[in-house]
Formats: sequence, C-alpha cells, structure tokens
Amino acid sequence: MGVLENKARARLFYKYLSKVYDRINPFIWNEEMRGEALEWLDLSRDDRVLDVGSGTGFGTEGLLGHVDHVYALDQSEHQMEKAIRKFGLHGSVSFHRGDAERLPFADDSFDAIWSSGSIEYWPNPVDALEEFRRVVKPGGKVLVVGPDYPRSQVMQRLADAIMLFYDEAEADRMFREAGFEEFEHHIQQARPGTPRAITTVARVPEK
Ligand SMILES: C[S@@+](CC[C@H](N)C(=O)[O-])C[C@H]1O[C@@H](n2cnc3c(N)ncnc32)[C@H](O)[C@@H]1O
Repeated sequence: MGVLENKARARLFYKYLSKVYDRINPFIWNEEMRGEALEWLDLSRDDRVLDVGSGTGFGTEGLLGHVDHVYALDQSEHQMEKAIRKFGLHGSVSFHRGDAERLPFADDSFDAIWSSGSIEYWPNPVDALEEFRRVVKPGGKVLVVGPDYPRSQVMQRLADAIMLFYDEAEADRMFREAGFEEFEHHIQQARPGTPRAITTVARVPEK
C-alpha cells in the first residue's frame, strides 16, 4: 500500500498541497477531460449529486454546469476552506466534512456520485464503492476518476510506493467486488507524456 493510502497522511498532505493545488491540477486533470467525463454522467438539472473528495471544487464547478445543486464531501478542512471561498457556504453547494468509506447519508439519497482524483488515497476503495452503491438510487450512476497504472516497471514501482494506481483489470475487480455489474472504463490524458486517468462510469444495480 502506498504511503498516501492512509487517511491521516492524506489529510496532512492536503494541508500543504491545498495552497498550490489549483495551479498544479490542470497539468494532469483539465477542463476538457472534466467536460468529457461530465457528458458520460449524463445529468439532469434537478439531479441530486454528491461529489466525493471534492477538494478545492474543480469537479464541483463542472457539475454546477449540469445540475442546480451539488453536495460536496471531503475529509480535508484545508481543501474545503478553498472550495467554500469559491462557492460560499449557503449557495448552490452543501459542504460535508467526511470519509468516502463511511458516507454520512441515508440509503438511496442521490441520483449520481462523481469522484475525481480521490480514490488513490482511500485505504479501502471497495468499501467506498460499496458506500457509493448504497447511497445512490438503483439505476443511478457513479463516476470515479483515478490514476491509470503506468506501463514502465520503474514508474510502476514508484507509483505503488505513493498511492493507488490501477489498470482496467483492477478497476473491474474493485467495482465487481463492490456489487456493480454494469460499468465501462475510459482512459483520459491531458496531453502526450502526462499521466493518464482511468475513468469508470458504473450503473447502480436494482436491489
Ligand atoms: C486530488 S484532490 C481532488 C479534488 C477534486 N475532486 C478535483 O477533481 O480536483 C483529492 C481529494 O480527495 C480528498 N480525500 C482523500 N481521501 C479522502 C477520504 N477518505 N474521504 C474523503 N475525501 C478524501 C482529499 O482531501 C483531496 O481533497
């Protein structure tokens, strides 16, 4: 398990990264990739959507182009402070401090979940995906963006030491183990040579 697949360490990491996050992020996860992923989620304006690992609000901002209100959840107060400064505390975003692996919401609360760039920090991603299946209504959609597993052995060793990087076979395993039956993966990249993202869109099965 990578050094950052630990909730306390990830919190500490984001205490410092939050200061520069918005300047670094576009090199690997940009508006074009976000826009493409949002099309796959195919939202309606009044859908109830949860953004898990919402951070400084990059995904949230994209979601607000498609829905009227977004529920944003993150475990880092520092990341969330930045997002609150952008969207305000009483506007179109409801903020929740919390853990992806133990969502503070009732069963079938949402029409969809979006989670971009957060799964790589979760120690038990299958637990979080089970939570996603629990809080999204049957037939609803879950979209998860994570880092694609590097091809070279040197980069694989480095990646494994830091956080979760995964390929399509591992994504299949995680989503199946969490109870999803219908899903597809897309590989996205900002530009040649930059790290690739693996984006999975899954449908919540009927009970
Ligand atoms: C790379 S940022 C992604 C932010 C945003 N979603 C985006 O697309 O730019 C990852 C975020 O996941 C959050 N995070 C990490 N582990 C988490 C957990 N177990 N539960 C909730 N949030 C978590 C971090 O605090 C951080 O804000």
